Amino acid sequence: MAPTFRTTPAALRIQTDAARHDPEGFWLDQARRLEWATMPTRADDKDAGWFPDGALNASVNCLDRHLETRGDHVAVIWQRENADDVVRLTYREMHNRVCRLANVLRDHGIRRGDRVAIHLPGVIEGIIGMLACARIGAMHVVLFGGFSAEAIADRLHDSGAQLVITANVGLRGAKHIPFKTTMDAALRLHVGKLAVRNVLVVHVTQDDVPLEAGRDFWLAPLLEAASSACEPEIMRATDPLFLLYTSGSTGKPKGIVHGTGGYLLWAAYTHDLVFDHRADDVFWCTADIGWITGHTYVTYGPLCNGGTVLLFEGMPSHPAPGRWWEVAQAHGVTTFYTSPTAIRALMREGDDVPGRYDLSRLRVIGTVGEPINNEAWQWFADVIGQRRCPVVDTWWQTETGGIMIAPVPGAVTPRPASATLPLPGVHAVLLDEKGRKIDAHRAEGVLCLDGSWPGRALTIWRDDAVFDTTYLKPYPGHYFTGDGAYRDEDDYYWITGRVDDVINVSGHRIGSAEIEDAIAADRDIAECAAIGVPHALKGQSIVVFAVPRDLAGGNARKLVDGILKTVATQVGRYAVPETVHLVADLPKTRSGKSVRRLLRKIACGETDGLGDLSTLMDPGVVPALIEAVQSES
Ligand code: PRX
Repeated sequence: MAPTFRTTPAALRIQTDAARHDPEGFWLDQARRLEWATMPTRADDKDAGWFPDGALNASVNCLDRHLETRGDHVAVIWQRENADDVVRLTYREMHNRVCRLANVLRDHGIRRGDRVAIHLPGVIEGIIGMLACARIGAMHVVLFGGFSAEAIADRLHDSGAQLVITANVGLRGAKHIPFKTTMDAALRLHVGKLAVRNVLVVHVTQDDVPLEAGRDFWLAPLLEAASSACEPEIMRATDPLFLLYTSGSTGKPKGIVHGTGGYLLWAAYTHDLVFDHRADDVFWCTADIGWITGHTYVTYGPLCNGGTVLLFEGMPSHPAPGRWWEVAQAHGVTTFYTSPTAIRALMREGDDVPGRYDLSRLRVIGTVGEPINNEAWQWFADVIGQRRCPVVDTWWQTETGGIMIAPVPGAVTPRPASATLPLPGVHAVLLDEKGRKIDAHRAEGVLCLDGSWPGRALTIWRDDAVFDTTYLKPYPGHYFTGDGAYRDEDDYYWITGRVDDVINVSGHRIGSAEIEDAIAADRDIAECAAIGVPHALKGQSIVVFAVPRDLAGGNARKLVDGILKTVATQVGRYAVPETVHLVADLPKTRSGKSVRRLLRKIACGETDGLGDLSTLMDPGVVPALIEAVQSES
């Protein structure tokens, strides 16, 4: 039987109209989704931000307010690596654990406004840690598990984090990933410059790791000794809730700051609307909490709405293909949210693998993080969704806080590979290269957002000016997303990918400049340029063109290995280039900038239409580049 959904086309139209014609009234009404210590009387204040006179605590919204009605309802199902190892925590139990950790943080001197870094594998302490910070008004800074020690050190330094929560190790299939050792290496990198006073260590396995006396502590005994009563800190809606690093076109990662009231409302509103949330749902978002998807749809959205989330410690196909589907079946997952890269990888295992499992409880399935190709969308819809579940292709970004463009189940008919229509309250526009708004229905241009929305980031940590120059100044009067899009005759949006120098590998956002700056540390390399090229599995892969100081005399294999190693140690393994071309020179404009557009074409073998080369400082480098690439392939 085809499932029915709460939102009808007419209801969505009414909401969209209300948000357009009376945004203040619409958002104040939506704000009732949250429990406020002081109910706001204003929604969007251009100067003071969202809900400026409202006050609340995010952990109270995700835990305390459910205690009376849903205290014994399971908040988190934690499926550990071992199939028999399942931890189910009710809202009451989560509340208890969060309060204990919040007290431990306070005991270690953490106060309102401080920063706490969380560097953990897929363990439940990640969610508990985020909510514990929220409880005492500290900002969490979750660091992706795949970051190298250097990348961690830079972010600890930039954020000024005073405390770190990490693990002895993380499990990745049969492998033990050395979290604590990496953190120790990070802490040694900027000695004297970091504010970190303490490191609390979660025992994920029995593996022992050295603790530095006075600085490092095992977390478990501290939690046991802590009180389970913890008064929440009442925050202004516009106070920061967290800081999360993402990549842009400069080499320096940006600490995106999200506020408490607006962000939380956006998380709850979009989770409810886009996933047609119901009280007995089991919601599984496969994202790592180190990325925004994990913040909004593992922790804040579902828990604020009183849902049950599934957290899986393991990998999709370990110990055997089908592991994800086995987990979905075992826990009766109703809502499944993942990335196109994961779908493409699972698709390769064959249709018979998911066919062995009962996925009949699934109602809504979604994707995020990168454009999805037609074939993967269709497979997801047919084989996983069994043509019964709508596929919600959700477009959004770290900066938007939550979903912006997506088909609302029951109200918008999905189309393969289209994010479809903006949600009520979201005003998407397309601009041409001169920054003029395109009114035609069928059009392609730069995707911008008009007006504000509650989930919009407050700023970039300690860099308001960069926030303005990155998002608000490129197209005055509009918020610039960095993406291009096509709009069809029904006003459906089709995201075409980044128009800036951001590369999207398996849904991970990596700045070209981040890679280039890392390679600059390699003394054998004079200069380089990093670009993204299409990749069948990962969406995009990274190609580097590097100019060695001594091309003729150097050992090519050694130089390439050196580059790969440098990127792995400076940024992380997830950013390691797929291909490195050693070349004599790079194509540059007269002002000395590498022309990445040209490099992209050359790397893809599209050498027929290279366009006008006369603006290059030295057009003569192009034939040599083409030859270098062709001789290697
Ligand atoms: O290029 C878009 C792509 O991911 C970028 C945002 O990356 P990040 O801030 O890491 O957040 C990822 C999770 C929200 C966007 O600028 N992107 C995200 N969702 C989609 C997408 N591209 C196409 N379709 C999507 N559904």
